[in-house]
Amino acid sequence: MKKKIAIFASGNGTNFEALAQACADGRINAEVALCITDKPGAYVTQRAARHGVPVVEFRPKDYDSKEAFETMLLGHLKEKGIDLICLAGYMRIVGDVLLNAYAGRIINIHPSLLPAFRGADAIGQAMEYGVKIYGVSIHFVDSTLDGGKIIAQAAVEYEGSDREELESMIHAQEHELYPKTVARLIENL
Ligand code: GAR
Repeated sequence: MKKKIAIFASGNGTNFEALAQACADGRINAEVALCITDKPGAYVTQRAARHGVPVVEFRPKDYDSKEAFETMLLGHLKEKGIDLICLAGYMRIVGDVLLNAYAGRIINIHPSLLPAFRGADAIGQAMEYGVKIYGVSIHFVDSTLDGGKIIAQAAVEYEGSDREELESMIHAQEHELYPKTVARLIENL
């Protein structure tokens, strides 16, 4: 049976799209079986609908604690038989409930060459710093912000100052690297 992936996203979902498309056309030998968002109505939910992927939307503030909403999420993940969790612009730190249940099976993509520029607006942080080699990292998730062992990285050389141009170069690299990395990981699960 095909392995099952859940994608967690908080926003636009272009990385969701890249992974779902790669599963649909066989570049990843798995199925995207669940989309989870902490931002009800985020554009990623429309992408999920187009791919026929069920969505779980929740508002963290409706729960007493991270433990409470992660326990709810774990129920959905188990029900669908999820093997791998891919964070794709999920702007929250993952807690112990999910980390313990999916040890070594939660990965994240981040738009910098980690460990530099963790957290929100990594691209803006790097531009501000004046870096000349930007990049993308994919890493195992631990309990720290954008921390955990790195699985794959790609560099993006850019010396200009056009943020839009740089963002589109970095996103293009993300959309290539994430499917490739997931394809490789899924074979070894
Ligand atoms: C991506 O650039 C991803 O690397 C970043 O959020 C963006 C989501 O875009 N993630 C982080 O910054 C995690 N700290 P998308 O919604 O279009 O996939």
